[in-house]
Formats: sequence, structure tokens, C-alpha cells
Amino acid sequence: MNIKFIQFQSHGDDRGSLVSLEQNKNIPFDIKRVYYLFSTKEDVRRGFHAHKQLKQLAIVLKGSCRFLLDDGTEKIELLLDNPAQGLYIESFVWREMFDFSKDCVLMVLADSVYDENDYIRNYDEFMGMVENDS
Ligand code: TYD
Repeated sequence: MNIKFIQFQSHGDDRGSLVSLEQNKNIPFDIKRVYYLFSTKEDVRRGFHAHKQLKQLAIVLKGSCRFLLDDGTEKIELLLDNPAQGLYIESFVWREMFDFSKDCVLMVLADSVYDENDYIRNYDEFMGMVENDS
């Protein structure tokens, strides 16, 4: 699986750091939605879905968490702990998030508004779809 991290330019000086996100510049799509997860309990595992169309970019603004990404062929675990980088998640990638630090704030930018019909929430259904596709 081709894992794509986007490294953002961090405008740092003696006051601190600043990252700017712009659609179709350092974010590779029109930003239609932003959501964020916080106060996640440490033993929680969430996600457990893929998307048919949606493309997303995940950025941990504070703290850390782990992602499991699975394209049906390969499973990869990644640690996100850098607010100056984004993890690009394409469609037809099963994702689970876990090991949230107490202070974790995970922000996600999405190229579409929320649409439950775009979700694949059943792993066997997901596997059937990616196998039929290859
Ligand atoms: P859920 O899909 O369970 O989150 P995750 O996949 O990260 O574990 O979403 C939790 C709730 O929030 C669920 O009721 C749907 C709702 N929701 C929205 O209303 N808008 C959104 O953009 C998202 C991502 C979720």
C-alpha cells in the first residue's frame, strides 16, 4: 500500500509554530468538511470502516494516536504524533484508530460532506468489494 504523508511547512520563530492549510495547495482536494475527535478514552478503538468515494486527510493537532490502514491486501500500522504532517487516506481503505493519548486532538479534513451511504462498515463486505475490483 502506498502510504502518503503530507509534510506541511511549519512557520516557526521564537514565538512558536504556525501551519496553514489551503485547499488544492497543500491539501490535495476541496475541503468540504472538517471534524475532530478529542477526549477519546485511552482503551477505545474506533473507525472500523472504509469509504466508497471519500478522501480524507488526518492531522493530529495534539498528542498522538495510531492508525491501522488496510487496503484488503496489506495492513499497515502508523503512529501520528506530528501536527505538521497529514496522513492522506484514500477511498477503499479500511481504517481503525487506537492508542489515543489522553490529550489527543485528531482533526480530519474531508472532500465531501457527511454521507452515511458512502460508508462501508462491514469488513467482509469491504473485502468482497476490493477483491472483486482487483
Ligand atoms: P462514527 O462514524 O462512529 O466515528 P468513527 O468512524 O470515527 O468511529 O461517528 C460518530 C457519530 O458522529 C455518528 O453518529 C456519526 C456522526 N458524524 C457526523 O454527524 N458527521 C461526521 O462528519 C462524522 C465523521 C460523524
